[in-house]
Amino acid sequence: MRRVYMDNNATTKVADEVVEAMKPYFTEMYGNPNSLHTFGREVHPGVAKAIDQVYSAINANDDDDVIFTSCATESNNWILKSVWLDLIKNGNKNHIITTDVEHPSILATCKFLESQGVEITYLPVNSQGSISVEDVKSAVREDTALISVMMANNETGAIFPIKEIGEIAKERDILFHTDAVQAVGKIPVDVQDLGVDFLSMSAHKFHGPKGIGALYIRKGKRITPLFHGGSQMGGHRSGTLNTPYIVGMGKAIEMAIQSLPKMDSEVRKLRDKLEDALLEIPDTFVVGERDQRTPNTILISVKGVEGEGMLWDLDKRFGIAAATGSACASEDLEANPVLEAIGAEKDLAHTAIRLSLSRYTTEDEVDYVIEKFRASVERLRAISSSYSKVKPQNI
Ligand SMILES: Cc1ncc(COP(=O)(O)O)c(C=O)c1O
Repeated sequence: MRRVYMDNNATTKVADEVVEAMKPYFTEMYGNPNSLHTFGREVHPGVAKAIDQVYSAINANDDDDVIFTSCATESNNWILKSVWLDLIKNGNKNHIITTDVEHPSILATCKFLESQGVEITYLPVNSQGSISVEDVKSAVREDTALISVMMANNETGAIFPIKEIGEIAKERDILFHTDAVQAVGKIPVDVQDLGVDFLSMSAHKFHGPKGIGALYIRKGKRITPLFHGGSQMGGHRSGTLNTPYIVGMGKAIEMAIQSLPKMDSEVRKLRDKLEDALLEIPDTFVVGERDQRTPNTILISVKGVEGEGMLWDLDKRFGIAAATGSACASEDLEANPVLEAIGAEKDLAHTAIRLSLSRYTTEDEVDYVIEKFRASVERLRAISSSYSKVKPQNI
């Protein structure tokens, strides 16, 4: 059966060039970069190149820090827990602002911090799935230590007003973190322009390997290490450097930045073609204005069709990979958390399907998905007890 991958917000295929760049670091160049011998030293240029590639991708200054982590979940945990450790130590700040629709790696960490006595404000989202800058202003308190707001949402693709929030944070001397996992490689990410102090990213979302991410730290912003040990990464994060993955992340981010024009033109065009066609199906709606979303994402609600049922139908009958909720929660039969946060009725929140394209998605694949998506909706609505329009008239 044909297979079409439309779940690139969950993870992406590793680009061939990235695999090629990584290979030598598993085989010949396996030295520990902290060793003084040639095996160790010969790894340095590759790691240095990857560091340059990441700095240049997000326009970091030379004296800022970019620390490689095991994933964005680690980066997000790290920044929140570091602020918490500092809060406790200093004892004069006890408040964090975030949103209702962050990734679980932020929300679950916030819940943990609440259990430790930290006060958290969760900003609500509007019907577009984004937040209001005015709400951020009103939420700020004397004791606010950190604002953490994602740059783009994983479910809807909604792009958040990070630059404007950065200005508020700077004016009030509040630390500012953004989870840019769904933004890097899809829209420009410039830490100078955005005014963020900390930024999380993850290589597997932009055709790099799984198991490697990074945290950007603006010069002069203090961060408490979570991993103590051999003082690698300037003492910020100890542990032998994961050299093949660091090299892979560098290559992947460089390619992702080079592909941004393609994302903004060809991928956007394919996404719009797909979206237009799916919206011709009666009783469907898509969350968020197109120009306020990442160019690859569609979260579509199909009235009368249970999201999980549709996911299985698309997968088993047609080989199409889609999603109903955050990748990490996709085994739970729960309503889409972002649709719930937007205020969609319970029934509708269960009908969401996310399709996310990549720079490798072809027009032929999009045409295939249009045809099979329609077929799937027709079949599932015909057996749906909740979709009255397709019920026989005499029932
Ligand atoms: C917005 C966002 N933040 C964080 C993460 C976690 O990334 P990782 O898989 O690298 O831990 C994801 C992954 O789905 C995400 O979409």
